[in-house]
Amino acid sequence: MSVEKTLSIIKPDATKRNITGLINAKFENAGLKIIAQKRLQLTRSIAEKFYEIHKDRPFYNDLVNFMISGPVVVQVLEGNNAVKLNRNIMGATNPEDAEEGTIRKEFAESIEANSVHGSDSFENAKTEISFFFAKIELIV
Ligand code: CMP
Repeated sequence: MSVEKTLSIIKPDATKRNITGLINAKFENAGLKIIAQKRLQLTRSIAEKFYEIHKDRPFYNDLVNFMISGPVVVQVLEGNNAVKLNRNIMGATNPEDAEEGTIRKEFAESIEANSVHGSDSFENAKTEISFFFAKIELIV
């Protein structure tokens, strides 16, 4: 097992319902450490750039509109196999497919308002972390 970092975003549906602490407890209880965290209001251009990989998907515009509909909390999680572990803690993208006990099963409202984003690979985690954080902001 190797210690990794991964990017997490607590999405506007969750910040609006004031459940960021409940979500952070899921990460911490599963052994991930929050080594950086900040609350941001994304601009349209930042959200478009972050999700650029999805720009040809039919849900892209709605996704961007949703991600700027309220504050988000961007965070860096660290731990053994953090990328995969975080995806297990989050559950499937669509809450209808998510397993019991996962964040999306417990908290997500829909496939779009699905409470959290997490990097899907080690390489993407590096890119996504540097999108939002400077090295000096990661406090292990
Ligand atoms: P996320 O992990 O943030 O990555 C892209 C997001 O697009 C995804 O979570 C979903 O919230 C959102 N999305 C909306 N519709 C779909 C869809 N049909 N398939 C996949 N992702 C979708």
